[in-house]
Amino acid sequence: MYENTPWWKSGILYQVYPRSFQDANGDGIGDLPGIIERLPYLADLGADALWLSPIFPSPMEDFGYDISDYTGIDPLFGTLEDFDALVKAAHGQGLKVILDLVPNHTSDQHPWFIESRSSRENPKRDWYIWRDERGEGVPPNNWLSEFGGSSWEFDQATGQFYYHAFLRSQPDLNWRNPQVRKAIHDVMRFWLRRGVDGFRVDVMWHLIKDEQLRDNPANPDYVPGQQPYQQLLPIYSTDRPEVHDVVAELRRVVEEFNDRVLIGEIYLPPEKLVAYYGQNLAGAHLPFNFSLISAPWNAQGIARLINDYEAALPRGAWPNWVLGNHDRPRIASRIGDDQARVAAMLLLTLRGTPTLYYGDEIGMPQAEIAPDQVRDPWERNLPGLGLGRDGCRTPMRWDSTRHGGFSTGEPWLPLGPNLTLCNATAQADNPASMLSLYCALTALRRAMPELALGDYKPVEATGDLLAYVREYRGQRVLIILNVGCAPDSFDASRWPGRILLSTFMDREGELTDSTVALRGSEGVIVRLQGA
Ligand code: GLC
Repeated sequence: MYENTPWWKSGILYQVYPRSFQDANGDGIGDLPGIIERLPYLADLGADALWLSPIFPSPMEDFGYDISDYTGIDPLFGTLEDFDALVKAAHGQGLKVILDLVPNHTSDQHPWFIESRSSRENPKRDWYIWRDERGEGVPPNNWLSEFGGSSWEFDQATGQFYYHAFLRSQPDLNWRNPQVRKAIHDVMRFWLRRGVDGFRVDVMWHLIKDEQLRDNPANPDYVPGQQPYQQLLPIYSTDRPEVHDVVAELRRVVEEFNDRVLIGEIYLPPEKLVAYYGQNLAGAHLPFNFSLISAPWNAQGIARLINDYEAALPRGAWPNWVLGNHDRPRIASRIGDDQARVAAMLLLTLRGTPTLYYGDEIGMPQAEIAPDQVRDPWERNLPGLGLGRDGCRTPMRWDSTRHGGFSTGEPWLPLGPNLTLCNATAQADNPASMLSLYCALTALRRAMPELALGDYKPVEATGDLLAYVREYRGQRVLIILNVGCAPDSFDASRWPGRILLSTFMDREGELTDSTVALRGSEGVIVRLQGA
């Protein structure tokens, strides 16, 4: 951590998917006491903060993203006392705790929705988005649910439709209603007072919808076989101009407390994404930048997306980078084990706060899920399109014992292949493992302000080589990444220096005053001379 720099700028974030991290009570599902046991691992890894996917009471139809009580803990995960103990233990080990805030929708089992649907006159009716049919049985407009089908559900009892951007059991709150805003702000205060260090806000760009609920236009680029949601361009249902006021209000709540962070989950192209920093940077501190998740894995493509993102950033806005999360296929399976090491070096040497997804630091693969083991509602609703998220949510592998040390009971999802090599204990004992590489990278980033805070300067993107410099107060490091599998070489005659780290972990100290030969899928970090 650096003085005068907020922790969320210089720090490294780590996403924990609580169901799958560590099960302490043997029911096959991870829990808070389990996370507490594993905090030393996160500290050793060099993380500065953990973000927990939702842990609140929930019917678990979307595994916690369908909340029925915003200020409790689901018994599956533990109790409020366990939560307080977790915050205390984390803080004691120098780790911040970030919670998932899901303000766009609740569960249909939330008391607010139960009231809202009970009658048209109920005071909470307007807390959700209710509309009359457009014709007999015809939904109010053509908007689609991200999880398939219409986003409108007819409610027999009161004869109106309600809007749900995701499952029908996840009705959207009406953010035009000031009472809703106040209620969620109070939820935030509840947790901030309990000591949490900030929030990752779920589907931030969905929060407010077009006042007139206009039909979304057809997407001219839709290709059959793609996710049906993409048939329309969601220009009236998401990313509305008014959303920025909503975000600024969330930020103001966070600012009532010291040193907290507001992160937004937003899937939008860079020019739209960066608007979520807000006017005068009074919006999200970190609108999540997911561009690496869908990156074409070649030097020019990666260089372009870095440059486009850097160029789009408003003055003074702090960047961030993400390689994976609980909604997208794992990096090791997207680009292969060898390139996943290069990706780790990229993530931890770019300018901007990195977020690690649990298990990526040991190269966990995307697991194949047999049809009878599918749990994800997205896959269940739309089977066969490759949307399933179970494969990236499998239990963390701590060791090579039965169930990988995750649980003594039968895990809620299978562990997936290659447990012997891909587990934290085996890798901690192997100085060349993926885990050792991650630890070396986080240690360098923590020790070197040029990596944590320095400017980014592109150097080269030719063939399979991507090179850039990070610079801070005259100190410079050069990063050279071979994103191909064939050997290649970099002309370093203008870049005399010494190798600090190779992804192969065997070249420390080597001089770089002429050509640097790189093996296939090798990346190196070079401390430049004069630095
Ligand atoms: C976000 C979450 C995802 C969830 C969806 C609906 O995209 O990351 O897991 O299904 O919101 O809440």
